[in-house]
Amino acid sequence: MDLITASTVDLPRKFTPISSAMKENSTIQSILARRSVRSYSQKEVSREDMDTILNCGIHAPTAWHREPWAIRAIQDRETLRQFDLDCLEWIKKAQPSAAGLFSGESASVFYHAPALVIVSGDRSSPFATIDCSLVGENLMIAANALGIGSCAIGFAAEFLKSSDGNPWKKKFKIADNFESVIAIIFGHATSATSSGSNRDASKIIYI
Ligand SMILES: Cc1cc2nc3c(=O)[nH]c(=O)nc-3n(C[C@H](O)[C@H](O)[C@H](O)COP(=O)(O)O)c2cc1C
Repeated sequence: MDLITASTVDLPRKFTPISSAMKENSTIQSILARRSVRSYSQKEVSREDMDTILNCGIHAPTAWHREPWAIRAIQDRETLRQFDLDCLEWIKKAQPSAAGLFSGESASVFYHAPALVIVSGDRSSPFATIDCSLVGENLMIAANALGIGSCAIGFAAEFLKSSDGNPWKKKFKIADNFESVIAIIFGHATSATSSGSNRDASKIIYI
């Protein structure tokens, strides 16, 4: 049997930046242009946009097709703000070195974004963390394609894993055997985000 391997095909070994022709592809554009947004207008994310984003999330690849996730979308302002404030209190207590990032009365771990999605994984599924992370990336890329900004908020996922966060886990109807993997805020950006590709391409090596 003829095996076509990299060694039998004359492929260039050097990594080259994305060509302008490739950059015309809308999926490539959405991936490259996504940047974390930390300043949001108070305009709601429409239900149609939210549904589309969530639908893209659950179309991520999933090991053994298990879909070992529980996804919660929160848009209720009061719930979001209270969760935000409790998360802030927990950061001050559990991660005091990070507390300085959030000062003043209007401090917000969620940058006052109008929507939050929490993706939790079934602890009994060995690939749950990977599966949930892939959901998270799909959510952010899809949001960007729709002109919606996003930012992963690690603090929120950590808070939900703590005993202080347990009442919120219950309120969000996340079962005990599920653990939050990634929380992502969504909303309309108030200012343009940098489109700089601030990534280190030297970490890519062709073998
Ligand atoms: C798992 C994870 C947790 C993150 N947590 C936070 C966070 O709590 N607050 C925040 O402002 N950004 C957070 N970020 C965003 C990163 O800071 C951001 O992705 C990184 O600086 C690269 O910038 P870019 O997203 O604009 O490309 C998080 C990102 C990831 C992947």
